Amino acid sequence: MTKTIAVLGAGTMGTGIAQIAATFEHDVILFDKHKDVLDHSRKSLTRILNRQVEKDRMTSEQVNDILGRISSVTDLKYIKEADVVIEAIIEDTEIKQDLYKQVEPLVDDEAIIATNTSSLSVASLASTFERPERFLGIHFFNPAPLMPLVEIVPSVVTDESVTQNARDLIDSWKKTTVLAKDLPGFIVNRIARPFYGEALRIYEEGLADPATIDWAMKELGGFRMGPFELMDFIGNDVNQKVSETVFEAFYYDPRFRPSLTQKRMAEAGLLGRKTERGFYDYRENAYNPEPVKNEQKGQQILDRILTILINQAADALWMNVATKEELDLAMTKGVNYPKGLLAWADEIGIPKIVERMDELYARYREDRYRCCPLLRDMAANQEVFF
Ligand SMILES: NC(=O)c1ccc[n+]([C@@H]2O[C@H](COP(=O)([O-])OP(=O)(O)OC[C@H]3O[C@@H](n4cnc5c(N)ncnc54)[C@H](O)[C@@H]3O)[C@@H](O)[C@H]2O)c1
Repeated sequence: MTKTIAVLGAGTMGTGIAQIAATFEHDVILFDKHKDVLDHSRKSLTRILNRQVEKDRMTSEQVNDILGRISSVTDLKYIKEADVVIEAIIEDTEIKQDLYKQVEPLVDDEAIIATNTSSLSVASLASTFERPERFLGIHFFNPAPLMPLVEIVPSVVTDESVTQNARDLIDSWKKTTVLAKDLPGFIVNRIARPFYGEALRIYEEGLADPATIDWAMKELGGFRMGPFELMDFIGNDVNQKVSETVFEAFYYDPRFRPSLTQKRMAEAGLLGRKTERGFYDYRENAYNPEPVKNEQKGQQILDRILTILINQAADALWMNVATKEELDLAMTKGVNYPKGLLAWADEIGIPKIVERMDELYARYREDRYRCCPLLRDMAANQEVFF
């Protein structure tokens, strides 16, 4: 029975993960090398929890209990009691590995050690361990306490019992877990790339402006946010970096090629909401153009982006990244898609998706638009996903 959880890194993700673990009655040791970061983390956690009291969702006793279970430390030696260690420090292989070298000898041989990395290979991070079979990825989404999805990512050498125990633990925190292969972007960050990439391409080609593309995806597609709104929300620098990392990790597969438009936005400091300017202008009294609400054009935009997303999801299934059920669950619970992409493919008709991919390929002659062979086979055999 897991009792004590150590969380390494008290930034955005570490603070959220500590909150969840303490809410589920674990003793939490929150480690960061910077004292001011720990202070800031505690302040923001106190503010978030007090808001729950104001909304009558928690009592002040509950808040005090949660905060009382979290000890903030700047000395790693205090993590030695931990049954599970979840690392959420800066996204850098060498810095993470340096920390693991200090962590492994401190904790019990049976302790599970996990990383919350979004984009690094779990296998490469594991290579620094004496016992790499105890290490895996446990990938939360931001904000961790609110987002239901957690990707469980064993490396090729992770022990099966470690994967199962880690998954049982995260399930006990009432999260929706999916098992993902240790391939770039895991599930969500791999499949979701074209939501941004194809929207940017349509914009770059001058077919529609951001407001019109966002309108089409929301109004006609049922997505909660449009791609440009979402990029502004995530930050163009952060979103661009994920795209670049995934592209490089796939040995420059053109399907993942990032957009120069977004790169220039990031370079110019037009990062989105956090700088008040991105694809939209968030400054007071700023002018933002209205979308062109032409249903036929909107449908073409939605069809194109959705087709590429479905092709990407089918490819992930073909490459055994996860089961079809978990791939669909990941997109609805991790990024709030209105439907699972494979179920959506069934609804549209797989032959239609193949036809649209082939039309795009015939027009552009780019490998970016190659149709996944699984879809082609399924269309030929009149098969469906579900
Ligand atoms: N922010 C997101 O949306 C998100 C989502 C999922 C996963 N992740 C992943 O979670 C991890 C953390 O991301 P974040 O957004 O919370 O970052 P962050 O910058 O908010 O926090 C990182 C923290 O790590 C601390 N730190 C850095 N080096 C350290 C070291 N050697 N020892 C101890 N502490 C150290 C820093 O002081 C900082 O507080 C990354 O691997 C990131 O890829 C981030």
